[in-house]
Amino acid sequence: MNKKTVRDIDVSNKRVLVRVDFNVPLSNGIVTDNSRIKAALPTLEYLINHGAKVILMSHLGRPKGFDDKYKLDPVAQTLADLLGREVKKVDAIVGNEVKEAVDKMGPGDVLLLENLRFDEREKKNDPEFARALANLADIYVNDAFGASHRAHASIVGVSQYLPAVAGFLLEKEVDTLTSILEKPERPFVAVLGGSKVSDKIGVIDKLLDVVDALLIGGGMAFTFLKAKGYEVGSSLLEEDKIDFCLQVIKKAEQKDIALYLPSDVVIAQEISPDAEAMVVSVSAIPQGWMGLDIGPDTILVYQGVIKSAKTVFWNGPMGVFEIDQFSRGTEEIAKAIAQSDAVSIVGGGDSIAALKKFHLEDKISFISTGGGASLELIEGKPLPGVEALMSR
Ligand code: 3PG
Repeated sequence: MNKKTVRDIDVSNKRVLVRVDFNVPLSNGIVTDNSRIKAALPTLEYLINHGAKVILMSHLGRPKGFDDKYKLDPVAQTLADLLGREVKKVDAIVGNEVKEAVDKMGPGDVLLLENLRFDEREKKNDPEFARALANLADIYVNDAFGASHRAHASIVGVSQYLPAVAGFLLEKEVDTLTSILEKPERPFVAVLGGSKVSDKIGVIDKLLDVVDALLIGGGMAFTFLKAKGYEVGSSLLEEDKIDFCLQVIKKAEQKDIALYLPSDVVIAQEISPDAEAMVVSVSAIPQGWMGLDIGPDTILVYQGVIKSAKTVFWNGPMGVFEIDQFSRGTEEIAKAIAQSDAVSIVGGGDSIAALKKFHLEDKISFISTGGGASLELIEGKPLPGVEALMSR
C-alpha cells in the first residue's frame, strides 16, 4: 500500500485519534464476537508501547441518533479484557467532557469515545464535526478497514485536519486483498454464494479478469441456472439480472474461465428446519419447490476444483447454512477451503459466520474484517478511507 502507516510517524507522547471498526454483535449487553476488536490489537498495542495517548472512535450498528442499546460500554469492557489494561469510556463524542478526559491522559492511556453514529453529522461527513474530532488529537490513524468504504466524518473528514496514516489492520487488509488481484498464485479459484446476484455484480465482473475458475452457489445460482434455461421453481430469482448472468457465462467462455454452476440442489417448499427436503438434479426442480443448498454431486465437483487451487477467495454461503438440513454444502465447501494448501481468503459476514459455526476460522490464511469494504476493494473501487490517508 502506498500510504503512510503508524510506523512512519512519531507517536510518542502524542494524542493519537484512531478510527476502529468495533461494529460487533451484542447480545444482552455482551459482545458475542470479539474478532474485530482483536484484529485492531496490533495497532493499539504498538501505539501503547510507543507512548501514544490513544483516543479510539467507532460506530456500532445503525442507530438513528442516541440509542441506549448501541452504547459502546460493552466494547470498552471487552477491549480492556483483551489489552489487560484500563480503557476509559466517555459518554460523549466531542465537547467539554471529552476534552477534559483527553487532557488527563498520560502516555499509553486508552480512551474510547461514544458511538459516532449517535451524532447525525458523522454520516454526513460534516466538516464542523470532523474538525471537532480532529481538535482532540495530534495525529489521525485509520484502522477501520471494515468502514473505509464509507465517506463519513471519522473516516474522511477528520483526515483533512491532521496528519493521517493507516493502522496495521488497514494495511494488511488492503495489501492482502489487492495482492490476490494483482499476482495470485494460480490456479486462482473464487467461490461466490449468498442470495443475490445484484449484490455481487461488480465483484463478478472484476473476478472474471483474474480467476481461473469461478464456483457459484447459494441463492444467486438460480438466476444463472434460469439464464441457462432451467426451470427453478420458487427458488430465489432476479429476473432483471438474467441478462447479466448470460453475459457472465459468455465472458467466461471467451476468456476460457471455468464457470461452475450446481448440477444438483437440496430443495424444499419452505425455509424451515422441519420442511420436507430432497436432492434433485437442477433439471428437475418442481414448481413450488425452492433450492436451498447445493447437492452432493455439486459438492464433490467443487471440492475437486478447490483442491487443485493455489489461491481461493470465498464470499457468500452455498445455502441456508443456519438450518441444519440446508447447511451441508456450505460446511463441505468451507472444509475444502480450510483443508486445501492454497492461500485462502474469506470475506463477508455470512461466510465468516459459517467458518465460526463449523470451527474452521483457524485454518484460513486470511479472514477479512470487512464485508462491504472487502467487496468494494475487490471490485477495484477506491475506498474513501484509504484515499484520504497521506501517501508515502
Ligand atoms: C460493517 O459491519 O460492514 C461495517 O462496520 C460498516 O457498517 P455499515 O454498513 O453500517 O456502514
